[in-house]
Amino acid sequence: MKSKLPNVGTTIFSTMSALAVQEGALNLGQGFPGFPIDEKLIDLVTKAMKDGFNQYAPMPGMPVLRQIITEQLNARHGCNYDWNSEVTITAGASQAIFTAISTLIFPGDEVILFAPAYDCYAPAVELNGGKVVWIELEGEDFHIPWAKVKAAINDRTKLMLINTPHNPTGAVNSLDDAHKLLEVVRDTDIFIISDEVYEHIVFDGRRHESLAQFPELRERMMLVYSFGKTFHATGWKLGYAVCDAKWMVEFRKQHQFNVFTCNAPFQIAIAEYMKTVDYSEISRMYERKRNLFVEALAGSPWKVLPCAGTYFQVLDYSAISDESDFDFAVKLNKEAKVTSIPLSPFYENGSTEKRLRFCFAKEDHELLEAANRLKAYLEIGIKPSVFQL
Ligand SMILES: Cc1ncc(COP(=O)(O)O)c(C=O)c1O
Repeated sequence: MKSKLPNVGTTIFSTMSALAVQEGALNLGQGFPGFPIDEKLIDLVTKAMKDGFNQYAPMPGMPVLRQIITEQLNARHGCNYDWNSEVTITAGASQAIFTAISTLIFPGDEVILFAPAYDCYAPAVELNGGKVVWIELEGEDFHIPWAKVKAAINDRTKLMLINTPHNPTGAVNSLDDAHKLLEVVRDTDIFIISDEVYEHIVFDGRRHESLAQFPELRERMMLVYSFGKTFHATGWKLGYAVCDAKWMVEFRKQHQFNVFTCNAPFQIAIAEYMKTVDYSEISRMYERKRNLFVEALAGSPWKVLPCAGTYFQVLDYSAISDESDFDFAVKLNKEAKVTSIPLSPFYENGSTEKRLRFCFAKEDHELLEAANRLKAYLEIGIKPSVFQL
């Protein structure tokens, strides 16, 4: 079998989750919430099924859901999207991103990705014959080096993929980043996919600066969201794409032959649920969990890097070990019984940084237990000298 993705193996998420099961470790690796979803949402799905919403939804998604999405998005960001022609419900954000890339990229087109990048972007570019131009995020806060972005742009640059709040780093773009983005694309025809799946998870009084708020980007921008992230229901694999009608026509041409449509009762339930939900509560809940995890690690040689949003905390272990991040993650999984995700698979050619990502979308007692195990592991000593630091 000749592979179209010869350099791609199983994702690091599946690899680490399998190792977690094998070792009976506490899995802070793969990014899925470890607590139940709201009972109300479950009741609403049951009700929708009992009410008979069990056949195909319209191809772009249930109108009631697209209507409330548009109402809330337009109100939140002062934009003017049309529910009927500019919003499509997708099988998670992943399918939205794949389809969006597929509508745009022809052989030879260049796509700017920021490393570390969520792992579904690059394969979609490559499958469509595009070339990824990698730019590394910089510093402990993983900021975008805008001068390098400007220098990377040329006539072949077709697309830039922005992700804020950012997986795997927990970085959140500021309004200043958004203005720098506007500046670098202003005299170009570059398209933008804005992956905003963690839009409702930002901390310390920050605002999520959605690109939806900039009308000058409207005709060349696709916004992507995920109900899995917002409602802690990653297994539902439901999300949506929002863009100008001209791009959406092309998006739906592919969507209709790829998934055709997504499951109906969940869409009805989410539409009803969205009327009542307090989104600010989501950030508050995760901020508390971040603090719990970080405070439990205080005084240990694990260095806590800034986490401005998402449910991922990056810890730097350079004071603890010289091993590569993958080797060290495997060792921690086996010996400390805590699973994490190394960052190097999210770079073009790996990374020598000593950084691991921990998902804190878990029950409080699991976070405390994980932090205790991480500390206790050092005490029994892979490198006891660290306690003299
Ligand atoms: C940044 C980012 N984009 C997209 C996705 C995919 O979302 P979904 O599960 O809705 O396909 C994820 C999931 O982890 C993500 O972290």
